[in-house]
Amino acid sequence: MSAPDYDPKQVSLLQAPALEEARDAGLDAFAAADTLEALAVARTAHLGGNAHVSLANREIGVLPPAAKGEAGKRVNEVRKALEVAFEARKAALEDERDARVLVEEQVDVSLLPGLVPQGARHPLTTIQERIADVFIGMGWEVAEGPEVEHEWFNFDALNMPADHPAREMQDTLWLAPEGSQVVLRTQTSPVQIRSLLARGLPCYVVAPGRVFRNDALDATHSPVFGQVEGLCVDEGITMAHLRGTLEAYAEAMFGSHLASRLRPSYFPFTEPSAELDIQCFSCLGSGDPCRVCSTEGWIEVGGCGMVNPAVLVACGVNPDRYSGFAFGMGLDRTLMFRHGITDIRDLYEGDQRFTRAFGTEA
Ligand code: DAH
Repeated sequence: MSAPDYDPKQVSLLQAPALEEARDAGLDAFAAADTLEALAVARTAHLGGNAHVSLANREIGVLPPAAKGEAGKRVNEVRKALEVAFEARKAALEDERDARVLVEEQVDVSLLPGLVPQGARHPLTTIQERIADVFIGMGWEVAEGPEVEHEWFNFDALNMPADHPAREMQDTLWLAPEGSQVVLRTQTSPVQIRSLLARGLPCYVVAPGRVFRNDALDATHSPVFGQVEGLCVDEGITMAHLRGTLEAYAEAMFGSHLASRLRPSYFPFTEPSAELDIQCFSCLGSGDPCRVCSTEGWIEVGGCGMVNPAVLVACGVNPDRYSGFAFGMGLDRTLMFRHGITDIRDLYEGDQRFTRAFGTEA
């Protein structure tokens, strides 16, 4: 027999006892792993690239051809045994985990749901959108203006110069410093001016928003309240257009069973001017004593009129060619009227018992 041409010590990893020892160590480690994480660690140690079987496999290459077959078989048997044991343990641990998760993450479907209150939009917001929708349906656009406004937009351009008595009709909140000429807008009418200046002609806009006056809070007054302004300026606009538009509006908002009427009034920015009244929803003008309308039979919902030529001139519009109408309605009054709300404070105090009654009104 010739001497072997390899160093037996070098390939000791391939010896049967060494391989059996490595196999047993691996089988013990897999059996001892009690979590999937521990099993993964054991797999790296006993089946990974630096595990005994893997190193032994690499040694096969240096064996003489005659010895390779048998050594390879031994290594493969050990690897196979380890892989089978690993897979079996893995399946067992996964079953255990699944069973545990089913118990731990159990959902009691008979439990009451958490009582997270569902929010609802404020009725003042929804009424604004409802009004805007009526006009959008007639082809109008929605316009916006700032709540902090310059005196010129809020008064002067609306034909209310500094010495005009009509300014006193509106208790103005002036912003510091004195003489700043800046106010919290007392009406949405300045949006008329901004629209004419910015949008050009013809102009058909509605502008809902908040306005501010130096008023104490009581059942019928609030220092903050809502208005919706409307302005139409085009060629050939007459009072008939105003009447027809407001009638369509009243019908869409309050129903066709309630009549509406225009009553002569005065506003500096319209000439002629009128108040829009809607028949009282409670007594329908029957003449019977009525608390809602003080037996008037009518409820006032806003002012309106033909745009005063002075306003058109202030905005650079030629009053010989263009005419228009405008209106300003109280949002709070409209909402109170529509829903029989008797105290305006309910709209501003943020008490959810009140707003929740409007539910999830879209
Ligand atoms: N701005 C008026 C107010 O606050 C309401 C108003 C009346 C607006 C007539 C208008 C209008 O546009 O034409 O009292």
